[in-house]
Amino acid sequence: MTETPAPDEAVDGAPLIAPPLISRGWLDVLEQEANAALPPHIREYVATTAGSAARAAQHLAEWDAVSFAPRTLLGERSLALETSVLGRRVASPVLIAPMAQQVGAHPAGERATATAAASLGTVVGVSTNTAVPFGEIRATGADWWFQVYPLAERATTARLVERAAVAGASAIILTVDTTALLVSAPGIEPTEWPEGPERERLVNLTPDELVALGGRPTVAATLDDIAWLSEVSGGLPVVVKGVLRGDDAARAVDAGAAAVIVSTHGGRRSGASITSLSALPSVVAAVGDRAEVYIDSGVRSGGHVLAALALGARAVFVGRPVMWGLATAGAAGVERVLRGLDAELALALSQSGATSLATLATELDVSLG
Ligand SMILES: Cc1cc2nc3c(=O)[nH]c(=O)nc-3n(C[C@H](O)[C@H](O)[C@H](O)COP(=O)(O)O)c2cc1C
Repeated sequence: MTETPAPDEAVDGAPLIAPPLISRGWLDVLEQEANAALPPHIREYVATTAGSAARAAQHLAEWDAVSFAPRTLLGERSLALETSVLGRRVASPVLIAPMAQQVGAHPAGERATATAAASLGTVVGVSTNTAVPFGEIRATGADWWFQVYPLAERATTARLVERAAVAGASAIILTVDTTALLVSAPGIEPTEWPEGPERERLVNLTPDELVALGGRPTVAATLDDIAWLSEVSGGLPVVVKGVLRGDDAARAVDAGAAAVIVSTHGGRRSGASITSLSALPSVVAAVGDRAEVYIDSGVRSGGHVLAALALGARAVFVGRPVMWGLATAGAAGVERVLRGLDAELALALSQSGATSLATLATELDVSLG
């Protein structure tokens, strides 16, 4: 029987980077465990995409098809994952994407997700539709960014953003892609869900504000919202989420965005959409060093994170894997996902031969598929 080496033992003469908890396919196993634990309507809600299953699989496979020529002879190398986003230190470039209906995955919802973010020193995005009061997010000590869907009532949007800022949100994420999901199984629409805590949303509005919103809660974002959100939040940086084109990214930055997230909303925007990975190079080129560029949608391994950073992204957001961790073990499950991705990233960084995370983009030439 082969013994698992201790974490500090050398393998093939190189330091062992990945702790023993990481094994090939661990995230697939976690997804299966989460699917077994979740009620069918939540499972469907988390998994669903705008296009066909075949298309979704093809989009995910694109991440695995990235390749590069590993470097050698670069001398001393650092495997540190620490970096900064919007000028604030984070322990790793793996950040948590804002996701609604987290109490459907676990009763503690974003309380658990934010607790994991705080303990590992990363950023957590919190959805407009969260069912957890802002004060409880603040109490976890996490660095949290508030995700805004502009509401039909502008004054209500302003009050919501002010409340988030008072509760310590350190940035505003403005989501500019709207999702209109096809229902792939009966009972999937949150409004048709069985009674339960997961039906709660927009809890940071007062009952009167909720009534005033009526049946049309959100409206499409505009370019002017960027400066307006910065103003009503008391000067917080605004991150524009959901761009897939260099020209849109440049317009957002010209209008005051501090960063953009290249995203297909996890494949939920449109089945016919290009992937965020294929859009990344043109967005990085259009934005240059005027703003930070992040990416999400399909990041499932440390190797994917490495690819994103080598293509010029400063950080990645992870969605569903966090939901799987949450569903299986609350905050501990989310921590496990983040630790797993970080360990894989350190391993991928070591294997790439690049000298450090910060110099990856200049040292590695990456080809997509
Ligand atoms: C269940 C679920 C709920 C989501 N809710 C929101 C949301 O409220 N606001 C938002 O901007 N994005 C939302 N997203 C999109 C995520 O922020 C992110 O873009 C996406 O999940 C990343 O793709 P991945 O799941 O493949 O990692 C949601 C995604 C999922 C899966």
